[in-house]
Amino acid sequence: MSSSETTAIPAEVAEAVKADPIELARQRLIVALDVPDSKSSLRLIAELEGTCQWFKVGLELFVAAGPAVLEPIIARGHNVFLDLKLHDIPNTVAGAVRSAAGLGVRMLTVHAGGGPAMLAAAKQALAGVANPPELLAVTVLTSMDSEQLHSVGVDRAPATQVELLARMGLDAAIRGFVCSPQEVAVVRALTGPNGVLVIPGIRPAGAAIGDQKRVAGPAEALRQGASYLVVGRPITQTPNPAEAAKAILEEMAEAL
Ligand code: C5P
Repeated sequence: MSSSETTAIPAEVAEAVKADPIELARQRLIVALDVPDSKSSLRLIAELEGTCQWFKVGLELFVAAGPAVLEPIIARGHNVFLDLKLHDIPNTVAGAVRSAAGLGVRMLTVHAGGGPAMLAAAKQALAGVANPPELLAVTVLTSMDSEQLHSVGVDRAPATQVELLARMGLDAAIRGFVCSPQEVAVVRALTGPNGVLVIPGIRPAGAAIGDQKRVAGPAEALRQGASYLVVGRPITQTPNPAEAAKAILEEMAEAL
């Protein structure tokens, strides 16, 4: 398997960046734009221009600013991961997936916990769509530990629950998953090299953990088999986001 198949990075891009590990790392780092409005997101993107190429638009920004928030980001040539974590009845999720597929985003999330029928409907909604986003099934949120899982009636360890949900996603022909760095190896073993594993809960040495529970550093997550790393506050909540991102890229580059 080539590295482009492993990470779903187009072959020509993989070829161009092969000689430059920082460029390769840049293709795999996604910055979470967890900000309240479009203006703040554009300010952050301007600060990271030339350093980062992937941005995640999540619920905070999308609910505040709507689909229009995506246009200037895409127009600047950046890749967008739309992290809506859809979770509803199959028909409703399929409709939302179809709507999102027309927005020019490269990745889109649904909650695996919505069940097999919902996952199948989400996948089916993309059949026939030209250049569809990669559909990612979110397994267990990185903010959940055993105690939190227990509170919602799940007595399994997080890794066991992640494995169950990943198998469910694979059965629905989904190859993309979101899980914590601590379960990457388990999910990679299930998906093989074609899996697209997008990993939040990344904390470089010294960064505040905040509300996350199952975390690891950037190099460790890549070594375990991550395709992409999602990093929010350790970049965006620092005095110099570009410097913080560069330090993460360097750590990633060493591990690649
Ligand atoms: O600031 P921090 O690096 O913790 O941000 C992580 C981002 O990844 C957030 O935008 C969060 O919504 C997202 N995420 C997560 N855990 C998941 C899925 C997505 O933390 N399982």
